[in-house]
Order: sequence, then C-alpha cells, then structure tokens
Amino acid sequence: MTHIDLVDQTFRDGQQCLWGMRLRTGMVTPVARELDTAGYSAIDITGSSMFECVLRYSREDPWEGLDHWRRAMPRTEFRSGVGSNRIVKFGLSPDAILDLWVQTLVKHGMGSFWVYDCLYNLDQMKRLCDTIHAAGAKALGAIFYGISPVHTDEWFAQRVRQMASWPSVSAIYVEDAPGILTPERARTLIPAVREALRGKPLELHSHTTIGLSPLTYLEGADLGIAALHVACGPLANGSSLPSAQSVVANLAEYLGAGEVDNVDEIEPGEGAIVRRGLAKHAVYRREDGSLVERSAVCTHVGCIVHWNSFEKCWDCPCHGSQFAPEGNVLNAPAIRPLAKTDEAVDVETKRPAFHEAD
Ligand code: FES
Repeated sequence: MTHIDLVDQTFRDGQQCLWGMRLRTGMVTPVARELDTAGYSAIDITGSSMFECVLRYSREDPWEGLDHWRRAMPRTEFRSGVGSNRIVKFGLSPDAILDLWVQTLVKHGMGSFWVYDCLYNLDQMKRLCDTIHAAGAKALGAIFYGISPVHTDEWFAQRVRQMASWPSVSAIYVEDAPGILTPERARTLIPAVREALRGKPLELHSHTTIGLSPLTYLEGADLGIAALHVACGPLANGSSLPSAQSVVANLAEYLGAGEVDNVDEIEPGEGAIVRRGLAKHAVYRREDGSLVERSAVCTHVGCIVHWNSFEKCWDCPCHGSQFAPEGNVLNAPAIRPLAKTDEAVDVETKRPAFHEAD
C-alpha cells in the first residue's frame, strides 16, 4: 500500500441511506468549503433518483442546485451514479435520453460517473461508458457484490476483466450495497479482481449496515485498494458508509508509529505499543523487569489496544474490551486473549492464530 484516496459520499449515498434524500440544496453551503478542501479524490454528489426526490419533495430545481454546489465546491471532482439503461424510473430509458442525461450532467460540472447494471448487460454498460468518455468525463465500471453460488470470485473477475478492457473505463468499483463483504471474503475477492484490472485502479464502497465495513476497509487497504468510499460523521455509519474520521483514524492506528521506539523505554509495571515491521505489539514490562509481548490487535473486531496506566491493563478504544497486562480478557465484548506474537502466521487469515495467554 503506497497511497489511498478517499471518495466522499456524504451528500449522495450518506443522505440517501440516512435521510431518504431529503437534503436541501442550501444545507450543503455551510460545509462545502471544508469538504472541497479536505483532499477527497471525488465527491459523489448526485444520481437520477436524487433528481426525482429534489423535485418531488424539496420543490427545488436540481440543475440550479447542482450549479450552486459546483460553485461552492470548485476544486474537487464531482461524481454521479448512472444505470446502464435507465434514469429516474425503474423501467428502461432510451439510449438517446441516457446520452443526453450524462452529456448535460457533464455540462453542469460532473467529472466522473460510476456505471452499473445489476443484470450485467455489459454491452449496454460499454455503450454508456463510451458516451461518458466522449463527453469528457471518466467512467468507472461497477460490480455489485453479492453472495450466491453464482457469485464466485472468478465470476466477478470475469466481468471486471471485460470492463477493464474497454478504453473508456478508467477504474473499477466494487459496490457492496448491503455491507456484507467480510474481511475474509475480501482476502480472496480483491486479489482475484485485481488480477483482472489491467493496471486500472480499484475502489471499494461498502456500507456499515452490519458493522463489518470498517474492518473490510483495513483489509482492502492492505490488498491494494486505490480508493475507499466514506461519509462525514453525521451522515456516516448505520446503513451509510463508514465515517471518514474513523477510517482515517483506523488507518493511522495500523500504519502509524508505535508509542515507544525501544522496549527499554518501558518502565516496570507499565506497557506501551511497539511497532514490529508491519505489526503492532502490546508490550508489558513485569515488575521483575521481564517482558510480555502480545499482538496489539483487539480480538473482538480488530482495533488497536492502548495501555491504561491507571487501571494497568490494555483498553480497546472501539467497544471497551479490556485485557490484563499479559493479554487475558478482563472485559467483553472480546472473548479471546491478545494473540501471542511468536505464532506462525495463519496462511488463510494472515493473522496470528489465537490461543490462551499464559
Ligand atoms: S474491537 Fe471491539 S472491543 Fe476491541
């Protein structure tokens, strides 16, 4: 992993999931500058169903609103989703209307589109990607993650291979709308899809519906995902996307330096986090001077623990698990001790196997 972009979904998918698309145009204005200068690679701003809601419920002109947002956020690329064969309604739309739709959105400042077809009519997807490319915007081909005997890693990879072969497609996008992509499945799916990319970047969009996606994002970062989709705090989590704040904090926890450079800095009766290559270890110095070293990865769902010098234990900041200095569980939700660090790495999970601490 060298560089990871973030794509903001606050104003499109965040409000779609949590507010039923009742965001009014003017509500964006007070935070527009912060979003525009935060460094996102793109802001997903609209889609055809959003136009319908803005007209029906807010009684606003969506084109005028789009121009207002473009003026308020002039720096960052705007993105829209578009189905390969429909806009606004669930029935089919004529190709000429679809073409006019994306061409008009480009005139109103759209810089990229993620193109999807839930039934994978790839000819139709390619046609629209070519139109988007010709209009001067980027097209991203999307696959929708699902679980079934049909949806194997190779099944997804075959479709990605075909999309990535189209010159008009600049990137591929894994859409996990239900938020059911587990870190374990990501470890096989993402490498299979990456094999098929022909060097094009891969983005990951996974909802927090059942709380898995923050962990899946860490795995994705490790597996070469180029961009993760997030939303800002008030419109993040739940059925929306992981919050930008927590994704950045989690990545910093995993990638940042340890608390001490050398275990010699740890006083008797104290603990500290030490970086060992790509891993972080929880190191405790007993009163007799000897050391206990465990993985710093909480065995609940994988946050990094920190030393609590008042209670003399390891605390997990995510959901409150506590571990004794030597790694045994003191408080749930974790039920397994911190892993020993001298374990052979489990080849399937790439993590140390768990077992009882001494
Ligand atoms: S990750 Fe949930 S308590 Fe640690």
